[in-house]
Amino acid sequence: MLRAGLNVPVKDGVVTERFRIEQAVPTIKYLQDKGAKVIVIGHIGREPEESLKPVFTVLQEMVGAKWGGELLGEASILAGELLYGEVLLLENLRRDPREEADEDSLSAELAALADLYVNDAFADSHRAHSSIVGLPRHLPSYFGPSFMKEYEALSKALKPTSPSLFVIGGAKFETKMPLVEKFSSRYDQVFIGGALVNDVFKARGLQVGKSLVSDIDLTNNDLLKKTNIILPIDVMTTGPNGQRTVTPEEVTEDEMIMDVGPATIEMLAPRIASARTILWNGPLGNFERGFAGGTEALAESIARSDAHSIVGGGDTIAAIRGLHLDNDFGFLSTAGGAMLTFLETGTLPAIDAVLGR
Ligand code: 3PG
Repeated sequence: MLRAGLNVPVKDGVVTERFRIEQAVPTIKYLQDKGAKVIVIGHIGREPEESLKPVFTVLQEMVGAKWGGELLGEASILAGELLYGEVLLLENLRRDPREEADEDSLSAELAALADLYVNDAFADSHRAHSSIVGLPRHLPSYFGPSFMKEYEALSKALKPTSPSLFVIGGAKFETKMPLVEKFSSRYDQVFIGGALVNDVFKARGLQVGKSLVSDIDLTNNDLLKKTNIILPIDVMTTGPNGQRTVTPEEVTEDEMIMDVGPATIEMLAPRIASARTILWNGPLGNFERGFAGGTEALAESIARSDAHSIVGGGDTIAAIRGLHLDNDFGFLSTAGGAMLTFLETGTLPAIDAVLGR
């Protein structure tokens, strides 16, 4: 039973970014080559009605997978009929509410279909769900090769070579605060972008208008006193006067900060060029609203540098792949949230489960 990371974006029933599936395929092929009967399980989206059928279409093309149609029920019969070297994909684990609740009855029912469990879904391994922490209670359990690659690459990121630069974007400062604190002592420089920086601007008394801010109040926080924290020097805003590129001091009360500006990318360029380790998670701009410019410019700048670069987060990876810069980075992680949890804590619920800790 292979727990794969199959949570990919889908539009109109078609997978729009295959990166995670592509990382799962060598593991499936390896198991097929060794003559295993491979039952693949995974989740997609956050709504129980979402289906892995679009992922199946890709896996059918890439490894000749068969479709289970559901999670258990009839699918269990198909699992029992599998021949050596065949692959069966079961339906979205989250269709069963016991998955997220880590109810042991689900782990037991899934475990009954297989002899061994392999977790190759690093990106999902921060979730203490049945398929992640429950199955190892029932079956001899292993990490897959893609999981191990993630583990090794991110372990390296925990011990950067100087000069080092950590870039953090995206939103929700409250969840990223411990990581920013930890890495501001571990990395020589920390650049804060994305909606996170709005909280910093706000705490410094600047006008952030209608920009996205989190619940956290950073006023008087020691983090703001750290001299190795770098902030954007210009931002792109939207407002009644359209789009503008302004300094953070010039943002008005009816504007929204959407991305970093070109001067910021220029300011970062020499730091990127001289860095030996660069770790990056999260976009610099609001992707949903089409503000990908800052992220793409940063990707191009890092791609040109000789630094060992480690990058994670769905939007960031999509931007890099969209620019065909995949081979110019040291390591592209399939993980977003799991990457942050691993960097912050040095472990994941899945690791403790498989190792029986
Ligand atoms: C991710 O995309 O970060 C993982 O697949 C986990 O998905 P989740 O955030 O919906 O649990």
